[in-house]
Parts: sequence; C-alpha cells; structure tokens
Amino acid sequence: ALVSMRQLLDHAAEFSYGLPAFNVNNLEQMRAIMEAADKCDAPVIVQASAGARKYAGAPFLRHMILAAIEEFPHIPVVMHQDHGTSPDVCQRSIQLGFSSVMMDGSLKSDGKTPADYDYNVDVTRTVVNFAHACGVSVEGEIGCLGSLETGMAGEEDGVGAEGVLDHSQLLTDPEEAARFVKDTGVDALAIAIGTSHGAYKFSKKPTGDVLRIDRIKEIHARIPNTHLVMHGSSSVPQEWLKIINEFGGDLGETYGVPVEEIVEGIKHGVRKVNIDTDLRLASTGAVRRFLAQNPKEFDPRKFLIASTNAMRDICIARYQAFGACGMA
Ligand code: G3H
Ligand code: 13P
Ligand code: NA
Ligand code: ZN
Repeated sequence: ALVSMRQLLDHAAEFSYGLPAFNVNNLEQMRAIMEAADKCDAPVIVQASAGARKYAGAPFLRHMILAAIEEFPHIPVVMHQDHGTSPDVCQRSIQLGFSSVMMDGSLKSDGKTPADYDYNVDVTRTVVNFAHACGVSVEGEIGCLGSLETGMAGEEDGVGAEGVLDHSQLLTDPEEAARFVKDTGVDALAIAIGTSHGAYKFSKKPTGDVLRIDRIKEIHARIPNTHLVMHGSSSVPQEWLKIINEFGGDLGETYGVPVEEIVEGIKHGVRKVNIDTDLRLASTGAVRRFLAQNPKEFDPRKFLIASTNAMRDICIARYQAFGACGMA
C-alpha cells in the first residue's frame, strides 16, 4: 500500500529503528528493493531525484512504483521525491501521486548555491502548507552537505552545493534546526553531520568516527518529534570497488560511511538514511564482472539479473543493520 513518510517514520521512531531510502531510476533497482523488502518484511521508502525523472520520465517512474505496490500489496511503500529545488517541483510531484516530498531549500533553485535561512523557511513552509493539505509528508534540509575535511560538496555533477563550503555551513546548528522546524512544520529534517553525496566521501579508511554523533544527539534533544534524515549515507562497499576495478573499471581509492556509525545515529533519532551510490556500485560491479566472464552473452536480462541480485543483497544488509526487518 502507498503510505506517507510520516506514517512510516512515526512507526520507526516508536520501535527505534531506521529505514534506508533507496533512490530508484529503473526497473532493476525497483525490483531489487522490493525483493529485499519482501524477504525482510520491511517497509519501503523509494525516492526519485530530478535526474531519475529525466532519465526514466515521470510517468514511467510513477507507474513503476505503483506496479511495485500492486505486486507486493503487503509492503507499505513511500513514494518520495528527493531534493526538490522549488515549491513548483514539489507541487508537480504531489499531482503525480507522490506521498512525500523533499523541499531542499538549503540551496537556491539552481540546486547549487547555498541559500539563506529566510529563503529556506519561505519555500519550505509554502510546501508544507499545500502538502499537508493533501496528506503528503515533507522533508526539509538545514545545513549543507559536504566533506568536513575539504569543504567540498562531494559530487561534481549531481545534487549538492557547488564549490567549497565553510565549516559553519557543513554542520547543522541545533538551535537553528529547532527554529526551522517551528517556522516550517516539516515532518522530517535532513541534517549536515559529516556526510556528503557520491562515492568520494573519505579519502582515507575511517579509523575513528566520521559522523558527528554528538551533534545528532544535540539536534535530537531539541526536536525529538522531528524525524532526522541522513543524506549521503552510502557505505561504499570495498568489495564492489575491487570488482569494478578488477573488471575494467577505474575508480580511485575511496571510503563511505561505516554501517556501524549509521546504526549509532539511528539510536539518536535518525530515521531515514539515503542510499544511492551503494546500489550504483553493486550494479556496475555485477554487470562488469558478468560481461567479462560471459563474453558470448548478449541477452541484457542475463547481466541485468546480476545487477538486480547484487543490489538486492545490499538492500537486505541495510534493512537488517537498521533494524527494519519484520516491521512491514
Ligand atoms: O542526492 C543525490 C542522489 O544520489 C540522486 O542522484 O541526481 O544523479 O539522480 P542523481
Ligand atoms: P549517497 O550518494 O551516499 O548514496 O547518498 C544519496 C542521497 O543522499 C540521495 O538523496
Ligand atoms: Na530526500
Ligand atoms: Zn541527498
């Protein structure tokens, strides 16, 4: 069944677990997520970015998610719009049937330039007003994602700020977060606490903590009824990086957010954990390996099933680690 984000995250808060929110662009990702959720009996959040809508076309995305709901009627599914850049974008998604939208007013409508507090409140409150009138949940964002080491936003051509950010923008201020929730009425709040988008998050293997758990605790203490969201939460599986490079790929050394640290965040109010890059890496690794090992094969279903299975296994591992199994 199609449900709102608020319904799922309220349940997650009540029973102290977290939900991965996987990005979806194509049939294989959708199947991987649903097969994993079905196996784990876990609720599902699937999210579509502007890039996904451009790639698949909004109607295809919408009907793919509706098809998933039809095939797996026992699994609650949130159809979430990721990183909306304006109220217009969010309104269009609601019209398309999305049950949750993110208004990312931490950046201007170009999706690149950091915005000031008043702009963020203005656009986010506008979205909350019309979304809540339709029973649709809203995620806002306060603070800009980026590397705490370098200030870089993390992705060259994807979602996120451009150029180098200063340290104060990269960590969400707890007071400001509390004020923002009061000023806007968002259901869920994305916070900046050390994660960044894309595959290149940390250049060295994390030894100590990479997330600012202390900051998560401070924010959660002030807004205990607002569900915290962590973007940029891929763990960048080293085994898949190795397979990609072994079979003709050329990715540099890089590390993601350790799963144990995400689990620590979930203990302190994080309820939605955004993951895209990990499925991209697993998919690419599986396809590269399959084609290299089966040079005579040309039926795309053969290598795409390898992609689906690889992504499914990542989804299962995250549902298990975040405590979401049996919660559907
Ligand atoms: O937040 C970024 C997600 O990974 C979506 O990426 O804009 O390339 O679809 P995308
Ligand atoms: P990753 O790039 O770490 O997978 O983050 C995805 C994300 O935050 C989507 O909004
Ligand atoms: Na989102
Ligand atoms: Zn994101």
